[in-house]
Amino acid sequence: MATIVKHPELVDYIQYMTLDEIAARPKGVMDLFEDGTLIIIKDFRLPFDFGAIEALDNRLDQIEDQKLRRKLKKLEATAFFDGKPPVTTRLPGSLHTTLRFEEPLRQGLFDTLCRGDQAIFENARRALKSAHDDLNQIFQTCFPQYRPTRLISSLRLTETLFENLHWDNHSIDDDFHQARVFCNIDRRKRVWNVGHRCVEYLESIYEEHDLGRFAGRDPNLMLNYVAGDVLGGTREIWKDNRPRHSIAFDPGEVWLGESRMISHQIWYGERAMVYMWFVDLHSMDEPRKRFNARVEALHERMQQRAPAVA
Ligand SMILES: [Fe+2]
Repeated sequence: MATIVKHPELVDYIQYMTLDEIAARPKGVMDLFEDGTLIIIKDFRLPFDFGAIEALDNRLDQIEDQKLRRKLKKLEATAFFDGKPPVTTRLPGSLHTTLRFEEPLRQGLFDTLCRGDQAIFENARRALKSAHDDLNQIFQTCFPQYRPTRLISSLRLTETLFENLHWDNHSIDDDFHQARVFCNIDRRKRVWNVGHRCVEYLESIYEEHDLGRFAGRDPNLMLNYVAGDVLGGTREIWKDNRPRHSIAFDPGEVWLGESRMISHQIWYGERAMVYMWFVDLHSMDEPRKRFNARVEALHERMQQRAPAVA
C-alpha cells in the first residue's frame, strides 16, 4: 500500500478502493473522478516484468539524431507492439540476424533503447503489451460508460525529480474530458505531492491576481500564469509553499486522477506508464464537471460576486 502523509489543512480527496469495490458500483469511479478524487487501487499491483523494462537503454540524451531523440522522449507504449511485425534479416557477412521495421520510430527504438537486441525488444514488447491490456481493463472497470475517442499511452523511462507544484496543461484549448491512469513500473517508489485542486485554488487567489482577465479565453493561459508567475514554475520552485499531501506509490501500484484538477508534483520517480484517454463529453457522468466547464463556471460565479461599478 502506498505510504501517505496527509496535511491537516488540505481537503482529503484521496480514496483507496479495490477493483471489486469499483466494479460493484454501476458508475465505477466516474463520479468520484469527475469530482476531483485521487483514487488509488487497493490491494492491487500490476503484474509487471520490471526486468524487461530495466534492460532498455534509457540514455536518450546520447542519441545524436535530434528528431529521433525528441520522438523517443515522447514515446508511447504502443510503439512496442502496434504496427506491422518486424522482418528478421541476416546481417551481411554474418550468421546473426536483426529486425527491420517499417516505421522509422520503431526501428529507432529497436536500435537505441533495445541496442538492436531482439531478446530485449521481445521482452519489453511482451511486458508493455500485457500492461497495456491490464490498464485497458482497469479503464473499463473504472469508467464503464466512458466512450474514449483517443488514447495517449505515455511511457516514462527516465528519472524525474523535484517538479514544481502544477496542474497539467496539455496546450490543447479544446473542451475535452480526460481519464488518466498512472502506474509505477519501477522497483522503486514513485513519490508525489498533491495540493489544492484547481478551481478551489483559483477562487482563493482570483481577486488578488485579477484572474477575471482570463474569462472567455483558453483556460491554459490562466494555468500558465498561475503555475509560472504565482507558483514560481521550475525556476522559483520555492514559491509553491502550499500545503500538500505526500504519497509514495509502491512498485506496480495504479492510481487515477484528473491531473488538470489535482495539483501535483513528482518529487521522485523513475519508470512509469501514464495512460490518458480523451473521452466523449456526453458519456461523462456529469458533463458540467469537465475541466473547461468548471473554469467557465468559476468566472461566472466570480463575476456575479464582483461589486457593480458605479
Ligand atoms: Fe503533471
